[in-house]
Amino acid sequence: MNKPSATPRRFRSQDWFDNPDHIDMTALYLERFMNYGITAEELRSGRPIIGIAQSGSDISPCNRIHLELAKRVRDGIRDAGGIPMEFPLHPIFENCRRPTAAIDRNLAYLGLVEILHGYPIDAVVLTTGCDKTTPSQIMAAATVDIPAIVLSGGPMLDGWLDGELVGSGAAIWKGRKQLSAGAIDNEKFLEIAAASAPSSGHCNTMGTASTMNAMAEALGMSLTGCSAIPAPYRERGQMAYETGRRIVGMAYEDLRPSAILTREAFLDAIVVNAAIGGSTNAQPHIMAMARHAGVDLQSEDWMKFGYDVPLLLNMQPAGKYLGERFHRAGGVPAIMWELQQAGKLRADRITATGKSMAENLQGRQSNDREVIYPFSAPLRERAGFLVLKGNLFDFAIMKTSVISETFRQRYLSTPGQENIFECRAVVFDGSDDYHARINDPALNIDDNTLLAIRGAGPVGWPGSAEVVNMQPPDALIKRGVSTLPTLGDGRQSGTSDSPSILNASPESAVGGGLAWLRDGDRVRIDLNTGECNMLISEEELARRKSEGIPPVPPSQTPWQEIYRSTVGQLETGACMELALKYQGVAQTMPRH
Ligand code: FES
Ligand code: MG
Repeated sequence: MNKPSATPRRFRSQDWFDNPDHIDMTALYLERFMNYGITAEELRSGRPIIGIAQSGSDISPCNRIHLELAKRVRDGIRDAGGIPMEFPLHPIFENCRRPTAAIDRNLAYLGLVEILHGYPIDAVVLTTGCDKTTPSQIMAAATVDIPAIVLSGGPMLDGWLDGELVGSGAAIWKGRKQLSAGAIDNEKFLEIAAASAPSSGHCNTMGTASTMNAMAEALGMSLTGCSAIPAPYRERGQMAYETGRRIVGMAYEDLRPSAILTREAFLDAIVVNAAIGGSTNAQPHIMAMARHAGVDLQSEDWMKFGYDVPLLLNMQPAGKYLGERFHRAGGVPAIMWELQQAGKLRADRITATGKSMAENLQGRQSNDREVIYPFSAPLRERAGFLVLKGNLFDFAIMKTSVISETFRQRYLSTPGQENIFECRAVVFDGSDDYHARINDPALNIDDNTLLAIRGAGPVGWPGSAEVVNMQPPDALIKRGVSTLPTLGDGRQSGTSDSPSILNASPESAVGGGLAWLRDGDRVRIDLNTGECNMLISEEELARRKSEGIPPVPPSQTPWQEIYRSTVGQLETGACMELALKYQGVAQTMPRH
């Protein structure tokens, strides 16, 4: 492990503030910062300028805690000898942004790259929380490659209602089914929703937000134990202060993302994701971060390194508890401690602490075995993503850690045909079509139906929507069938426990196999071999292809059109493909 050394160095900000070659410009660069009280002396002192990438705002409620935390980050930066400069990011709020927050990941990425490259910033604190706020900022830090550290905002406190834990997202999916079954009314549904969000912070389940913050920590991009501290806890403010202190050290050490974001780090993230029962959204986000870091990660790596990893964390949606209990049980370091003892990690790699991951994990064993299970006696074996392929797609994943016993019994336990099931497909073109028709009795949806959705991928939606976790028709739910197999070229919420086949690539909108699926087709899924096929003849397939791809809605904004013209598929991270050739852009100075 090569540790960068801490020596006095000339920072890139000095090219703006302290450059005898263009004193004419320096005056211009300096003067306006002085209008809020910074002195020319500070800016010309040779101390690092530390950016605080502010993701919180009124329309990013999951990250709003960062407006407060930034004060402690500033204290830490100042105490360690840096100069803080806070700036806003493009907001991302998962639940509210239409047509989907996913379209903003690449936009926030793009914006942050331009800020970090074009302004006098030497190192940066990334303030993460809601789902895409983590990958977008790490992707940008990887592209720019200046020292960067992640500060998670932390999950909300645990939600409680009627003496039971109610987890964000998970409670909504459950409430919708109860509403469809007539078991609760609208008022009760809203009461459940409110109870699941009791404080500032991001989702308190192991949904995409907690997953991606855990991924940032597993990669080595944050201080040890950062991701799981609930937003309102005093330790969160203390972590903000320590993160502010540490980034100044990283600036002097020139400890950059390119040193931290190695293939080993990404493989460890895949392993940790399985062990925590992490969100299926981790798949495209991990791929995107790896590709922007120039790391060769393949879709096979999810099976090769992740599939066999057992579930160690008892947290919703794969388990029972929520974020507060996870933090008290030791958080991500305690999970990684188990994995490291079992020889599952590549922990001799540098992290943001300046130490190796192995050093960070020393003494981090959990003492709450109801929440964090030992590797030798896990909550469930083989909890990683199952990678599938066939004539419907080249790539799709299934989150095995959430497949319920009821579902296993009904679909996966036919003697001699274990883990194989065959269903009749009903196909929806996007979620409007789903909502319009799901309760139509003419569709004859029964418990042998597979619900398929297309037009929900990066190009089709646009952005790729969390719509694959489709619930059965009300009539079926009333009869006690609350889950059907589903399949789609979109994503699903990380807080959902639906046993879906999702992220299908290539998507229907670019001619993937889902485009040719028709109502009534038999679909055969073999979880033993990872094969998923529609059972139709080659001639019939050729005939359908001559009918053309199902249409998708037109772009409604300039960004939607730009996004569609540059985006890749979920298999490879739904990246802005043309951006991938830019790496380490801070090594070239912008013109002035
Ligand atoms: Fe923002 Fe879940 S909706 S974290
Ligand atoms: Mg989500």
